[in-house]
Amino acid sequence: MYKTIEAIMIGAGQRGSDVYGEYALRHPDQIRFVAVAEPDAERRQRFAEKHNIPLENQFETWQPLLAQSHPSTGSGQRFGQAAFVCTQDQQHTAPTLAALRVGYDMLLEKPMATTAEECRQLADVAEETGRQLHICHVLRFTKHFTKMRQIIHSGDLGEIVSVSHRENVSWWHMAHSFVRGNWRKKEDSAPMILAKCCHDLDILIWMMDQNSTQLSSVGSLMHYRPENAPEGTPKYCLDGCPAAETCPHYAPFIYVELLPLWRNYADTAKGIPRLAAQAQERAPGLVRALGNLAPSLREMADYRGWPRSVVAQDPTPENLMEALRQGPYGRCVYHCDNDVVDHQVVNMQFEEGASVTLTMHGHSHVEGRFTRIQGSRAELQASFGYGGSRIEVNEHRSDRSIRYDTSADNSSGHGGGDERLMNAFLMSLREGESAELELTSHLSTARQSLESHLMAFAAEEARLKAKVVQMEMFR
Ligand SMILES: NC(=O)c1ccc[n+]([C@@H]2O[C@H](COP(=O)([O-])OP(=O)(O)OC[C@H]3O[C@@H](n4cnc5c(N)ncnc54)[C@H](O)[C@@H]3O)[C@@H](O)[C@H]2O)c1
Repeated sequence: MYKTIEAIMIGAGQRGSDVYGEYALRHPDQIRFVAVAEPDAERRQRFAEKHNIPLENQFETWQPLLAQSHPSTGSGQRFGQAAFVCTQDQQHTAPTLAALRVGYDMLLEKPMATTAEECRQLADVAEETGRQLHICHVLRFTKHFTKMRQIIHSGDLGEIVSVSHRENVSWWHMAHSFVRGNWRKKEDSAPMILAKCCHDLDILIWMMDQNSTQLSSVGSLMHYRPENAPEGTPKYCLDGCPAAETCPHYAPFIYVELLPLWRNYADTAKGIPRLAAQAQERAPGLVRALGNLAPSLREMADYRGWPRSVVAQDPTPENLMEALRQGPYGRCVYHCDNDVVDHQVVNMQFEEGASVTLTMHGHSHVEGRFTRIQGSRAELQASFGYGGSRIEVNEHRSDRSIRYDTSADNSSGHGGGDERLMNAFLMSLREGESAELELTSHLSTARQSLESHLMAFAAEEARLKAKVVQMEMFR
């Protein structure tokens, strides 16, 4: 039996509470949250109640929580061994530096920071203090990308000559996060190539085991602009929008009916999960009725997770409608204050000569990441989706086709990556235990994550200044 890790949570929002908090509730033998900092009183109390955190360990912000552990301002005693920083993008650096300096080992949400200087500082301070600082690159922990990396490393594809990777953000996810939601403005969060694609840039260099030497980029905010609004559309969908029956972005269609989410599952899943998602899409009344017999159908009928959980704390249909009336997620997508791109392409040269393209756009019918790799001996095609994932390798000489089902073994987010990332982080903290080296080696330290973040900053500079960036100069 191993020791339960005690941890503090900074930012009990969607990731902090719904992902890492829920993991702790499912695995009380592995981790226990013993203190929380969260300015939103409802979120703070809910997190504290779920994790049995006493009032004296509940804080409105991270400063007093960490001050208590500092020898000059508090007792010098930490609340536990680990700290999670799950605040918004621009609020990562200060709490992380402070927590490292009082001796916590840390899991920090991506992007690690929103400037190159802060990213470097985080990597430096983690090394100076000798603490662990890992960045939540969840894709490294998926069965899908782990398998793809293995195939590349096996040499079966021969020399890798060309890679084309697509991050197909669905039109409704784009509208939710990058037009109406938290990541819509560069100034408040980050350029989309950093916010959405630091994962993709990380996974490309992680799978290939080499860095990029130079890159260029094009892209813009093309569609979600006021001039593209259908005639007569009001600021909020529920203010009598004349396009309510035809506009795909009509907010109640996305959040209350939730049809786009079920369609995404149905399009990418197999077997029973596919049938269930189809049934939820076409006959929700039947799924609700059958929910009395099958708990998984009941969960589907009463689904409360993302993106609904972001719109309302208690996402009943009534509460969702109320939140959409005047809240950010009820706004017409053509009348928001968004400025991040809705499409961008990055062209890269990698160290061993391969040309690599990353295409990211927010207009996909079905959400997913597609990868195509041409090698001198075989070609690989891969699809990573909400409901399931697969890889196919076609050998040039034999014409043999080898298929792998790389769908997640667990139902956690990001194709099972969320669960396995937590598992690996906690394993890395348990001294003396013979950790599964394979899994913990997938963790990305701040120093390792620096490279993908620098590539994102370089891509943004290349796009804005229409130039080719030499990564060596940029580093
Ligand atoms: N790893 C991934 O794949 C992944 C996926 C989604 C989001 N993220 C990242 O996770 C981070 C959090 O995203 P989210 O969707 O959970 O956001 P969120 O807004 O739901 O949660 C952030 C929380 O931080 C709290 N907060 C603000 N100021 C604070 C302070 N001074 N002290 C303590 N808490 C404070 C907010 O009140 C909020 O509850 C973001 O950086 C986001 O980009 C990562």
